[in-house]
Formats: sequence, C-alpha cells, structure tokens
Amino acid sequence: MKKINIAIDGPAAAGKSTAAKKVAEKLNYIYIDTGAMYRSLTYKALQHQIDVEDEKALTNLLVATTITLLPSDEGQVVLVDGEDVTLKIRERDVTNSVSFVAKHQTVREEMVRRQKEFAEDGGVVMDGRDIGTHVLPNAELKIFLLASVEERALRRHAENLAKGYESDLEQLKAEIAKRDKLDSERAISPLRKADDAIELDTTSMTIEEVVDKMLSLAKAKITE
Ligand code: CDP
Ligand code: CDP
Repeated sequence: MKKINIAIDGPAAAGKSTAAKKVAEKLNYIYIDTGAMYRSLTYKALQHQIDVEDEKALTNLLVATTITLLPSDEGQVVLVDGEDVTLKIRERDVTNSVSFVAKHQTVREEMVRRQKEFAEDGGVVMDGRDIGTHVLPNAELKIFLLASVEERALRRHAENLAKGYESDLEQLKAEIAKRDKLDSERAISPLRKADDAIELDTTSMTIEEVVDKMLSLAKAKITE
C-alpha cells in the first residue's frame, strides 16, 4: 500500500504529539516529534551555558550533537548523544527557552535538513510548527490543530497534576500564550497554517475523536 507523509502543525499543547503518536501507531508509520529536537538542543545549550541569542554557538553545538528519536511503549524516547533526555526536555527551563533557540535561521536549516531525511521514504507522521509550510511542503496530508488557549492550558495543567508535578494554571496559560506569540511572529518559518492544510479545532473534541478524524483523512489519501 502507498505510504504517505502526514504533517501536523499547530500551537503549543493543541494535542499534536498525542494524536500524531496514535495515528502513526495505527498506520504502522514512524512518528517524528520535531519539537523534541528543538527541545534537545535547548537542553544542551542550557547545560553548556550558551546564550540563546548566540546563533553561531547554537548552530555549532547542534552540528556536534546527535539527537535520536526512538519509538517506545510510552510513545518516544529522546536521546542526546546517547543520554536519555525524554523527561528532562519537558522541564520548565527548557520549555521557556526553546522558542528563543528555535528562531535562528542556521539552527532551523540544520534541523530541517535532518527532518527531511527522516521523511524521504514516506510513512512518516511529523509534528511541529513549520512541517506543512516548510519541512514537508509535499506531504500528502497536512493538518493544522487548534484549541483555545484556555483549553490548552487546562490540558497541560491536568497532565502536570497527573504526573505529580506542581502546576499553576494561570502561569501555564501566560507561558503558552507567550510561546505561541514568539513562534508565530518570528521571521524564519513562523507557526502558520499551510494553504492546503485542513484545520481542526479540537477545543471540544476528545483525543479519540481527533485520532479517528485524522485516520479517516489519512485513509482517504492512501487509497486515492
Ligand atoms: O509540545 P509543545 O507544543 O509544548 O511544544 P513542542 O512541539 O515540543 O515544541 C517546542 C518549541 O520548539 C516550540 O514552541 C517552537 O519554538 C519550537 N519548534 C519549532 O520552532 N519548529 C518546529 N517544527 C517544532 C518546534
Ligand atoms: O503536542 P502538543 O503540545 O500539541 O500537545 P500534546 O502534548 O499532545 O497534548 C497536551 C495534552 O492535552 C495531553 O495531556 C493530551 O492528553 C491532552 N489532550 C486532550 O486532553 N484532548 C485532546 N483532544 C488532545 C490532547
């Protein structure tokens, strides 16, 4: 059967990775979380005390860094030069610095080069901010996931509490809104819906409904 590429973009905590992982699992495709790649570089930059405004140093660091995304029962394990950083890259210091690291042109060029390679043979579900517009402009299916900022903050809040982390809903809402603004307003490949992407507002949808909708869209493309 034909193997298509699926590009999923949208703002923070819209449910991209949860849905993308499940869709990939059902189709037996590879899931690529490009946000995890930017988070991995940010983690390493913070470790090495590299200024998030220093494009050259960040790019050199990325070129010297191996980022590995491995499928696992929980979804995905992320390795940075062999170190398991799956949980560390979700921490607040990384989350609040990542949009500064991700705004630099030469950092993005190297990330996009790696991401395109993953998708060369098709059969990839990739999520991020610029997948439909820039990384995989020829993806057979493009989805732009949306949800209100209140709903997205609530989802992250529930996720934090379930994991036993401290969480402040109002603070989360402000941080999510700030990251969306930085990601949407940057000069290089900002967060934007591709002209040919299908918009899905998930504010009042369950994960199962989102996954079912994506699978039916994917199946229509596969059998086209
Ligand atoms: O999961 P969450 O929505 O919190 O974010 P993420 O997908 O892990 O992405 C983290 C950050 O990486 C985003 O806020 C963007 O600044 C950046 N990013 C990007 O610039 N381009 C991508 N394709 C993916 C992520
Ligand atoms: O990848 P992204 O940042 O877009 O979002 P995510 O990490 O997949 O989803 C954020 C949280 O929202 C997760 O805890 C999901 O389980 C939850 N979620 C939800 O409650 N309802 C949906 N329709 C989608 C996601």
